[in-house]
Amino acid sequence: VENVGILAIEVYFPNTYVDQSALEHYDKAPKGKYTIGLGQKEMGFCDDNEDVVSLCLTVVAQLMEKNKISYTNIGRLEVGTETLIDKSKSVKSCLMQLFEESGNFDVEGVDSINACYGGTNALFNAIAWVESSAWDGRLALVVCGDIAVYAKGNARCTGGAGSVAMLIGVNAPLVLDPGLRGTCIKHAYDFYKPEFTSEYPYVDGPLSVCSYLTALDACYSIFCQKAEKSIGKPFTLENFDYMVFHSPYCKLVQKSVARMALNDFIKNKTGYYPEKYSTAFKSLSQFRNVSLDESIGDRNIEKSFMAASTELFQQKTLQSLLLPSRVGNMYTSSLYSSLVSILISVPSEELINRRIGMFAYGSGFAASMFSITIMNPTYSASPKARDFRLGDIISNLKDVKTQLDNRKCFEPSEFTKALERRETTHCRANYTPGSSIEHLRPGTFYLSLVDEKYRRSYTRK
Ligand code: ACO
Repeated sequence: VENVGILAIEVYFPNTYVDQSALEHYDKAPKGKYTIGLGQKEMGFCDDNEDVVSLCLTVVAQLMEKNKISYTNIGRLEVGTETLIDKSKSVKSCLMQLFEESGNFDVEGVDSINACYGGTNALFNAIAWVESSAWDGRLALVVCGDIAVYAKGNARCTGGAGSVAMLIGVNAPLVLDPGLRGTCIKHAYDFYKPEFTSEYPYVDGPLSVCSYLTALDACYSIFCQKAEKSIGKPFTLENFDYMVFHSPYCKLVQKSVARMALNDFIKNKTGYYPEKYSTAFKSLSQFRNVSLDESIGDRNIEKSFMAASTELFQQKTLQSLLLPSRVGNMYTSSLYSSLVSILISVPSEELINRRIGMFAYGSGFAASMFSITIMNPTYSASPKARDFRLGDIISNLKDVKTQLDNRKCFEPSEFTKALERRETTHCRANYTPGSSIEHLRPGTFYLSLVDEKYRRSYTRK
């Protein structure tokens, strides 16, 4: 099989959001902390009538309808999430409700769980299936969905919610470059969810940021070693046309570009920086021999490299932050919402033959860097399916910007009330969600009932 990758992609985010400057004011945080300091504009949130299953039902149904795919054509369905509503029953099994009419239950795969990384694990599994002896020629479906909510305090503004679904097969417009992956998985208590009765994580903010950047260094270094073997020369940030990251908040993404530039800078002892950007880096020679590990948290180095890499950030990454800056951290789907942001922001003729670097990070921690090459394939995606083209991927995403602009803005006090409703209904049996469906977009699935045995029912608006 050749050119295995993403054939189609769909994103869902809540139709309600809170403005980050209004939230700063409400939280009595210094003006500019959330907007300039963390780089966030708006934050999407759900009331008690949406849960991880409804988010995933909506995005899968939309993907299948827009692309006119029959559920009989799906041979594997993988879900990545960290929003658990059951310790045993997978979200995947709940999504099989969508397959009932087709009668196709011959669908492999269950859920992958590890903070924001589960979606990437699900993607890797789906790619591996298509490349394996078990593949029966059908398509795979990868779904990532999460509701990111934090207890009152300084992390609350870094929440968000949303889901992404991706169709996987051969001769794809978005090909995962074979053999090009760097992974780093370690033990850390930077962010974890030990309390099954609460939606909120335990977070060590500074440790989570440090873990993220450590993982980035490790994954980038392994990725470069592999890429250098295949291209026969040093691999640097310049070899990526776009660089996309898991985005807990946008400022960390900008710091990550600076971090990769620092990696490139230290790696090449001969005074390297790409000629195009050399002036910006010339004044940084005093940092040539710093150790990567020691430089994490060094404000001077961070500031200097952020300044020097501004142009790199603007050219390769800024456009990926459209959804992350306006919806917030979508956890497992954050990285893929950033990919969608690139696809809807860059003119399509500029995308062909470009390489996108992808960095996935999930606390705990698990991280990978991989890359995607954008193609315009001329062969059929699967013996049983029709062709999938880059133009179709992009035209199916054409409503995303309007949907973002048409969302309902809520006061921070209303947002707080919604989170309080989620707190009191989380883990409850025998209740009907009290929040109105008025604000949901047509076609959205919502939680309509949790019965006395905790069985959940969903309805589509
Ligand atoms: N104007 C402009 N900038 C400001 C202002 C202001 N008035 N006030 C503060 N800032 C800046 C700070 O200087 C800082 O920037 P810097 O990092 O470049 O120095 C930034 O705003 C944030 O301020 P902090 O005081 O560092 O923020 P705080 O400690 O309150 O919390 C944190 C930030 C740790 C991200 C918190 O929101 C959190 O724990 N979030 C959840 C965990 C998380 O997202 N971790 C990331 C990886 S793991 C994951 O994906 C979940």
